[in-house]
Amino acid sequence: MSTVILGIESSCDDTSAAIVKDGVLLSNVIASQAVHEEYGGVVPELASRAHQQNIVPVVDAALKRAGVSTGDLSAIAFTRGPGLLGSLLVGTSFAKGLSLGLRCPIIDVNHLHGHVLAQFIKRNPDDRVPEFPFLCLLVSGGNSQLILAKSYKDMEILGRTIDDAAGEAFDKCAKVMGLPYPGGPHIDRLAAQGNPKAFRFAKPHIDGLDYSFSGLKTSFLYTIRDGLKTDPDFINHNLADLAASLQSTIVDILIDKLDKAVRQTGVRTVVIGGGVSANSGVRNAVADYCDHHNLEAFIPAREFTTDNAAMVATAGYFKYLDKEFCQYSSVPFARITVE
Ligand code: KG4
Repeated sequence: MSTVILGIESSCDDTSAAIVKDGVLLSNVIASQAVHEEYGGVVPELASRAHQQNIVPVVDAALKRAGVSTGDLSAIAFTRGPGLLGSLLVGTSFAKGLSLGLRCPIIDVNHLHGHVLAQFIKRNPDDRVPEFPFLCLLVSGGNSQLILAKSYKDMEILGRTIDDAAGEAFDKCAKVMGLPYPGGPHIDRLAAQGNPKAFRFAKPHIDGLDYSFSGLKTSFLYTIRDGLKTDPDFINHNLADLAASLQSTIVDILIDKLDKAVRQTGVRTVVIGGGVSANSGVRNAVADYCDHHNLEAFIPAREFTTDNAAMVATAGYFKYLDKEFCQYSSVPFARITVE
């Protein structure tokens, strides 16, 4: 008999549902929330309300696109955390309600495990997947971590950001440049036309494998402030160069610690994940780095970099095979952990 998993993701501002059958993705539906654009960042209360509106039609669409009915479901996997509590509650409660109605088990998925396991999302049964152990550079709007994945469930955070996440650095600097939220993709687009050496921004000097992006952000602000003193239209005159220099500094910071982690662990496979892994500079730099050091690189398809339920359903599928179900008393959690 086939194993059919419905995955539900609602940790931040994307409502998503996906169907994975015997480890192969059949559908992945994502409703993004435009409501946050005018605020320049995600407004938690508005995010929960939008999830409430979206969750039923999104799950319905995922089932229809997969050609699967609710009666076919073996289990329902949902993101339990970390993330925004109000948002997580929508997905968690929906999963519990549907599972009670259908009498099928529920599986809780750690959002970070989902991002790390996004490389296991298969469109075809023989798609290439990484072997354990591997290093994952997980970079998104809320996370910047170096994770050692020893198995589907055994993961260790080797380094994390001590202040802003990489995506926040992109988004906050983009905001100063007057670009729409989220600014990361706009910086990426502009950077392609600019000179990455036009400006020099501060890089952190932090021991170990932890990241920091606050110094870069401050030095970016100082550059803008000084530039505006002599040219009132400094930002527009230097848009592409500012974007290219910012992007290359963020990339350097990320690769520097990745290199340390590779040396420290001796691991030969590198995987990237999270929204910022959609960035062209990050993707090229990781591919080049791995090429140069004879490491195997896994760069995700762009659609699986940002929050999506395909990764939740895939992570849920592995837990299903191990019969790791969760209790109805299980509640969402907001804080970052990979346990
Ligand atoms: O994983 P994700 O969808 O959710 C959060 O954890 O928030 O990541 C969103 C982040 C945002 O900061 C966004 O600006 C960034 O990913 N992002 C990018 C690119 N695409 C998305 N940053 C740089 N370049 C991109 N192409």
